[in-house]
Amino acid sequence: MPNFRVLLSAEQIQTRIQELGAEIDGDNPAGGPVYLICILKGACFFLADLARAMKTPSRIEFIGISSYGKGKTTSGEVKLTKDLDVSIEGYDVVIVEDIVDSGVTLSYLIKVLTQRKPKTLRIATLLDKPERRMRPVDVQYVGFRIPDEFVVGYGLDYAEDYRNLKDVVILQD
Ligand code: IMP
Ligand code: MG
Repeated sequence: MPNFRVLLSAEQIQTRIQELGAEIDGDNPAGGPVYLICILKGACFFLADLARAMKTPSRIEFIGISSYGKGKTTSGEVKLTKDLDVSIEGYDVVIVEDIVDSGVTLSYLIKVLTQRKPKTLRIATLLDKPERRMRPVDVQYVGFRIPDEFVVGYGLDYAEDYRNLKDVVILQD
């Protein structure tokens, strides 16, 4: 059985997401709809809670992108594994991500989505590990800045396990 240490409790996560939802509402006075683009699979729980924390009408889309193999460090290689089903041209778009680590995934995705001419393109991430950044990314909504530890739970995995934990925990080996 792996060793877990709770970093962020389910309650802390929910409280912060309510604040983020209000912040996004405040930045969308026009009243939406805002396209929330969930990066599969890690951001799925965050997307579900963030969308419901917002009053601004939203539309939900999914994109698949991977830069990680089965280990804990980036492979440096990014690929699109599932594209959007709709055009985002002319819409306000918020990319919803679980964690920004090296920044490789998001800088790639920003390049791809910018070419599709959204009206605005912003990023909401539940977690940010700023110490690990290799590529600069402008992240507008950050749930929690965390230290350089490998975390799982609330959508985040280690080799596809532990996504369904309610808390975000540090995985110690
Ligand atoms: P980046 O491209 O290095 O910023 O990596 C971002 C992706 O790596 C995230 O979407 C996660 O899927 C994964 N990742 C980075 N750090 C962690 C972690 O601590 N736990 C689980 N997955 C992580
Ligand atoms: Mg991810």
